[in-house]
Amino acid sequence: MINMKPIHKGAEADIFLEKAFGRTLAVKARNPKRYRVESLDRSLRKTRTKREAKAMYLASRAGINVPALYAIGRFSMCMEWIEGKLMKDSRQKQSVYVDLGEQLGLLHKAGIAHGDFTTANVLIKEGKPYLIDFGLSEITTSIEEKAIDLILMKRSISKRDFSAMTGSYVKAYPDARKVLDRLSEIEERGRYKTRTLG
Ligand SMILES: Nc1ncnc2c1ncn2[C@@H]1O[C@H](COP(=O)(O)OP(=O)(O)OP(=O)(O)O)[C@@H](O)[C@H]1O
Ligand SMILES: [Mg+2]
Repeated sequence: MINMKPIHKGAEADIFLEKAFGRTLAVKARNPKRYRVESLDRSLRKTRTKREAKAMYLASRAGINVPALYAIGRFSMCMEWIEGKLMKDSRQKQSVYVDLGEQLGLLHKAGIAHGDFTTANVLIKEGKPYLIDFGLSEITTSIEEKAIDLILMKRSISKRDFSAMTGSYVKAYPDARKVLDRLSEIEERGRYKTRTLG
């Protein structure tokens, strides 16, 4: 690497911006975490890197907006740099939420739950959402895990934006209704718990 200074130090990984072959690349490197036992640390970093690369590959094959994957190492991956802003850092037009719902619908239809679906893991480039950070994703048929993607996003956006999102989610994903029903069920369980505990 030419430029060794990370442009982002995350909880999970460091992101380096590189220029090579006339392109701008993002290198996501999962460096050792000293507070974890070494063998566990290596295995976590390895599985999360693999998991992330696999989900991104499947997502891009399904036509979802994700950074193109260029190379995978044991603890790092090299991908397309998305020149955009995190969704959480600015106000978005309603059309972004409509597009986001479609992207999530396509992702779930492809059998992938994102695992950390928040406005901090969506980049907006030229008004379009790009999904990133698939380290906690699952290749799964679980309706519950898909409902959790919706719950996480719902917590960070307004009611109106969430309904714009679910409108297009339903159109993009045939099993969407099941996921939305499960979402209501989970919320109901939560309400019940708060009532009985409180
Ligand atoms: N392909 C990319 N193009 C542009 N920016 C990126 C790309 N991948 C990651 N980033 C930037 O790096 C940040 C961290 O990436 P990511 O969310 O994948 O890692 P992380 O370790 O989970 O970080 P955090 O703990 O902050 O969520 C993103 O919020 C984004 O700003
Ligand atoms: Mg992140």
